[in-house]
Amino acid sequence: MAFPVTRLRRLRSSDTLRRMVRENHLRIDDLIWPVFVTHGKGVKKAVSAMPGVYNYSVDVLLDELKEVIALGIPGIILFGIPAHKDAVGSEGYADDGIIQKAVRAVKDAYPDLLVVTDVCLCEYTDHGHCGIVKEGKVINDTTLELLQRCAISHVSSGADIVAPSDMMDGRIAAIRSALDGEGYTDIPIMAYSAKFASAFYGPFREAAGSAPQFGDRKSYQMDSPNAREALREIESDMEEGADIVMVKPALAYMDIIRKAKDTFNLPMAAYNVSGEYSMVKAAASQGWIDEKGVVLEYLTGLKRAGTDIILTYHALDAARWLQYRD
Ligand code: PBG
Repeated sequence: MAFPVTRLRRLRSSDTLRRMVRENHLRIDDLIWPVFVTHGKGVKKAVSAMPGVYNYSVDVLLDELKEVIALGIPGIILFGIPAHKDAVGSEGYADDGIIQKAVRAVKDAYPDLLVVTDVCLCEYTDHGHCGIVKEGKVINDTTLELLQRCAISHVSSGADIVAPSDMMDGRIAAIRSALDGEGYTDIPIMAYSAKFASAFYGPFREAAGSAPQFGDRKSYQMDSPNAREALREIESDMEEGADIVMVKPALAYMDIIRKAKDTFNLPMAAYNVSGEYSMVKAAASQGWIDEKGVVLEYLTGLKRAGTDIILTYHALDAARWLQYRD
């Protein structure tokens, strides 16, 4: 049926009508807030390239989390800034490492908040790569053992979900078997499955002090023009035991999210990364865009693309806006 019988504008004529026929919804339940934790007390250090993002010491973080709980945000993902870096990233799996301490404190204070931990070595290695380096190369299979140790130490500290972000081959199977071997058969793995070598991670590397000291991450993170390969990564992580798969970054890769959603039947996460956040913050601070409008539109766009879970630095703002939606 065509015009004039059909008039698509009919269902757009009032806010109530538009709400009734709305196809996709962003909910507070979809959000995970990424957080940077550091040693010390009373620390709330601004990340200059990410206005509104800080490095928190554990005591300050516990205070900040009161609002996360009050808003009903279901979870956080923790990134650690270690006191000590070395060639093998040993603070990443140390009992008194920053993540281990933070997880214990957060779970103790807020047992119902989901605590996800990023499993990777780049924040803890002095060379800044996500694995063991030998003769200038990142060595896959030796790295797996260290990732297993990281995952076990996070979970034994109380982490609810582990999220490996290193992009080594076989890490999901390695981590699953290590967790199972320790009796942690019920701990889900959220795999950074299609993680692209991206220029959008720049501000994160300032926040976490994790820029590679030589070379780049292109030998392990995906080449950004590739889509078929992303589906292979997701499929292999699924076969290795991933419970949730992730696409990262989010906005330039919505086609991958849609394809994966149509192909696989497991929850899909998207990481709305640091550079995506910083661009919005920069433009909004100049008065060039309406921050609330842009953020809600692009996060809802991720839902429309097929995302179930969104990791975003906008989580608190988005939750505040969703709570008092006009
Ligand atoms: C660690 C890791 C990175 C991000 C999440 N986990 C950095 C990287 O791979 O260089 C990026 C997150 C962001 O940019 O917000 N491997």
